[in-house]
Amino acid sequence: MAARGWLWLCLGAGLGSLVLGQTAVVETPENSTVNLPCKAIASSSGTPRRQEWKFHGDGSTVLFYHDNAFTDGYKDRAIFYPGEIHLKSVTRKDSGTYTCEVLSSDGKFSESQVELVVQVPPSKPKAQVPSVVTIGTKAVLKCVETDGNPRPTFKWFRDNIEMPADPQTSTLFKNSSYSLDEKTGVLAFEPATAFDAGDYYCEAVNKVGSPQKSDIVHMDTSKVNVGGIVAGVVVLLLLLGLVIFGVWFAYSRGYFSKGKE
Ligand SMILES: *[C@@H]1O[C@H](CO)[C@@H](O)[C@H](O)[C@H]1NC(C)=O
Ligand SMILES: *[C@@H]1O[C@H](CO)[C@@H](O)[C@H](O)[C@H]1NC(C)=O
Repeated sequence: MAARGWLWLCLGAGLGSLVLGQTAVVETPENSTVNLPCKAIASSSGTPRRQEWKFHGDGSTVLFYHDNAFTDGYKDRAIFYPGEIHLKSVTRKDSGTYTCEVLSSDGKFSESQVELVVQVPPSKPKAQVPSVVTIGTKAVLKCVETDGNPRPTFKWFRDNIEMPADPQTSTLFKNSSYSLDEKTGVLAFEPATAFDAGDYYCEAVNKVGSPQKSDIVHMDTSKVNVGGIVAGVVVLLLLLGLVIFGVWFAYSRGYFSKGKE
């Protein structure tokens, strides 16, 4: 399919001049009907000889309109007009770039693109917060949300107070040393201090629908390395297990019953 498109592109470029239109952006709520214009029609002279539509989303490209017909997955919900196509009941999977390619009767090739953003409100994000962090080490908190489109931005709250992007600008947070990336939702303490213990939650916001809050997660700080202590205890338990096994092994072989015979 893709090879076909390329062949045609090369053919078109060879026959006439290649006209690249500008990309239009269309935003529409999920489940609505959308009209995607083919600007290339206006810039092509004469009557179009052929017209094709391609969709590029999520890493793959499909040729979904060619030879005057839509392919499976489109034919039940798409209507073709020379100047635009109508897509009924779009889903989040329809977000991506649509390319209209036109070959006019005088051999001129032109194409135009439309970027479709299917709006999806953010869902409830998940706050990934360690329960205990060691003072003096780095601690990373993440706000995870995967539905929202356009991609949400993120806010973090400690004890119900929004954390500023720069802790130095706030008397409440100036003892903290952290960076907050509102685009990725990553909040990194470097290093964590005793002041950073508290109840944390995050919020995902885009311009569609209302902001969504995560559950509240408590984070404690500890002077000693809790991970190290746990590892130490595990090693100790393993050693103890080994000793018990050794004693049992010796006992079962009768090493302890010599005197009783
Ligand atoms: C669109 O419709 C589907 C199925 O009916 C539903 O699951 C989804 O939440 C709807 N999207 C919006 C944004 O309402
Ligand atoms: C910041 O640290 C200073 C000195 O340790 C302390 O007096 C002050 O209460 C701390 N501020 C906050 C907001 O925790």
